[in-house]
Amino acid sequence: MGQRRGKIEGNRLLDSTTPILTLSGLCKRFGAVVVADNLELSVGAGEALGILGPNGAGKTSLFGMITGTLRPDAGRIVYDDADISALPPERRCRRGISRSFQVPQPFGGMTVFENLLVAASFGGQLTERAATPRCLEVLERTGLARRANQRAGSLTLLDRKRLELARALATAPRLLLLDEVAGGLTDHECEGLIALIRDVHASGVAIVWIEHVVHALLSVVDRLVVLYGGKFIADGAPRPVIESPAVRELYMGIEADA
Ligand SMILES: Nc1ncnc2c1ncn2[C@@H]1O[C@H](COP(=O)(O)OP(=O)(O)O)[C@@H](O)[C@H]1O
Ligand SMILES: [Mg+2]
Repeated sequence: MGQRRGKIEGNRLLDSTTPILTLSGLCKRFGAVVVADNLELSVGAGEALGILGPNGAGKTSLFGMITGTLRPDAGRIVYDDADISALPPERRCRRGISRSFQVPQPFGGMTVFENLLVAASFGGQLTERAATPRCLEVLERTGLARRANQRAGSLTLLDRKRLELARALATAPRLLLLDEVAGGLTDHECEGLIALIRDVHASGVAIVWIEHVVHALLSVVDRLVVLYGGKFIADGAPRPVIESPAVRELYMGIEADA
C-alpha cells in the first residue's frame, strides 16, 4: 500500500486519491482494430492500478498514448492538472511520467550504468555530476550494482527486466507505467521484483501495471481494471474484479449469466 499522507499544495490538500492522471474520451484504432473506444480513466496520486486484458486488447498502446509515442485519434490526457495531450514524450517524462517496455529496450552497446545515466540526464534532466549518485542508488535498489559495467545487450532476462525498471526509476518518476515486467520470470525472480515495485509505490510513486502474472499483480495493486474491445469492462477492488462474471467469461469462457 502506498503513502496515505496528505500534502498541502497552494490552498489544496493533495492526498493519494487526488488524480495524477485522467484520460477522457480517448479513442484509437488501427484500421478495423479498435484499441481505445472512448476510454475514461482516473488514477490517484497514491494509487497502484493493475491492468488486465487479453493479448491485442490495446494495453501497450494505452501506455504509448500516455507517454506520447502514440497519438490518439481523439481524447484528452491530463497529468498533474495539465493537459499533456500535445507534448512530446521527453517532456512528459520530464514532468514525471516514466515507463518500462514489455520487450526490454536498453541501449545494448552501452553499459548498465551508462543506460541509467542517459535516463537520469535526458529524462530526468540532471547534470552528469548530479545524475551519478542517483544512478548509483538506483543500481543498488534494483540489484544491478554488480552489473554496472556490463554491456546491457549481454544481460540475462531478469537483469534486462531490472534494467527496464532501473531506467524508469533513474528519471525519478511520479507516475510509473510497467508493461509486463514479471512476464517470463520464475516465481523466485518475480518475488524480488514485486518487493521492489511495492517499495517504489510505498515511496509515493503512483503505479500503473499491465501484467498477465496475476498473483504478482494482486500482491501490489489496490485497484484493477480490465481492458477489452477498447473499453474497461471491469474496474474496482482486485478480488471482486477477478471474480466478476465479465472477467470469468473473458478468461475462462464461463458464461456471465451461467
Ligand atoms: N503501430 C501499430 N500499427 C498497427 N497496428 C498496431 C500498432 N500497434 C498495435 N497495433 C495493433 O493493436 C492491437 C493492440 O496492440 P497492443 O496495444 O500491443 O495490445 P496488448 O498490449 O494489449 O497486447 C493489436 O491488434 C496490434 O496488432
Ligand atoms: Mg502489450
